[in-house]
Amino acid sequence: MTGCQNGSYEVKIMKRKILFSKETIDQRVRELADEISQEYEGREILMIGVLKGAFVFLADLIRSLSIPCEIDFTRLASYGAGTVSTENIVVTKKIEMPIKGRDVVIVEDIVDTGLTLTYLINQLKKERPRSLKVCAFIDKKRKRKIPIEADFVGFTIEDGFVVGYGLDVNEKARFLPDVYIIEE
Ligand code: XMP
Ligand code: MG
Repeated sequence: MTGCQNGSYEVKIMKRKILFSKETIDQRVRELADEISQEYEGREILMIGVLKGAFVFLADLIRSLSIPCEIDFTRLASYGAGTVSTENIVVTKKIEMPIKGRDVVIVEDIVDTGLTLTYLINQLKKERPRSLKVCAFIDKKRKRKIPIEADFVGFTIEDGFVVGYGLDVNEKARFLPDVYIIEE
């Protein structure tokens, strides 16, 4: 794809419907950061961002916290569409910091089927964190296959494919400041 074609691709997305504007996101992220700061008052947390989708959310979230935090990242990949188990999920980038005895918050972009998050939680629990909670930017309800809920949720939607604010469609559109719904 040439740069020019890439450009028109982005324009197409930008003409779609804005689901959450930058202003709405900014406000909600500040509220979430307040919730987290209150919950862990007087402690230091370790936030684990799930790449790539959560990087923008994580960057905004940490700058609104009023408690100290450290940061690490992990990345997971799933293969085999339509799977109902976590067996087809692999870690493609491990966390690098020890989490034993730490208050850990996983920062995810989207919880959809719940398979990725369930796998990650099970892996991290083996390393004995003091506590383990999840903060998700978007909770998509309809396709959940495992009954798992994030502890802190930015926005809840039923379904639909969303992009922008770190979220991609074939690696495009992550840079957009607003969230767009490109498939209802
Ligand atoms: P599961 O189904 O395991 O997967 O909960 C969650 C992961 O799937 C990706 N995902 C999306 N990415 N727009 C995206 O850019 C979406 O609408 C969407 N829905 C799911 C996402 O990476 C998430 O971590
Ligand atoms: Mg993605």
